[in-house]
Amino acid sequence: MQLIFATNNAHKLEEVRAIVPAGLEILSLSDVQFTEELPETSGTIRGNALQKAETFYKRTGRNCFSDDTGLEVLCLNAAPGVDTAHYSGSRDALANNEKLIHEMASCEDRSARFITVIACVIDGVSYCFEGEVKGRIGLSIEGSGGFGYDPLFIPEGYNDSFAVLPASVKHAISHRSRAVELFSTWLSDKTSK
Ligand code: IMP
Repeated sequence: MQLIFATNNAHKLEEVRAIVPAGLEILSLSDVQFTEELPETSGTIRGNALQKAETFYKRTGRNCFSDDTGLEVLCLNAAPGVDTAHYSGSRDALANNEKLIHEMASCEDRSARFITVIACVIDGVSYCFEGEVKGRIGLSIEGSGGFGYDPLFIPEGYNDSFAVLPASVKHAISHRSRAVELFSTWLSDKTSK
């Protein structure tokens, strides 16, 4: 079975392909020559995931899914949240990490969580699956693996950031893998009926 993941983010594709069950082929937007920008203007993480998947489905009529992720930091009242991707005013990961360190200069409680919402549209009907990983924000950038805020995010139960931990650890416990697991289980169930 083939399903289109409405993204061109190579890191996300790699992570999702490593998690979904064998037999499910994941295609990216560039694999299907889709070049339009998908909107993310709803104001919530769940709304943005739905908006991307539903826009792609309306344009192409093809079953698909998308994801949207947010980092929520307790002492910043759940910021950056829906602004996670453009927190510093750009998509640059280093600038976003540096802004987060700066904003948290006086935070004693560094608790945070990542949440991912996967929205899929199958035959015109939309469904959502949500995964989270709890952790804390480190005092400085650490490691070169992963992407985005991985050098700052230390998952609960570990002392190193996602950018230091092996990819296999991130794949096993991350917000995205938890959402993908729920989605995959639901898909397996649906396709076996
Ligand atoms: P989006 O899902 O592409 O909108 O992601 C929003 C922001 O979260 C981007 O800045 C990503 O770099 C960041 N992000 C998404 N997933 C992860 C992750 O697994 N680790 C670290 N940062 C992430």
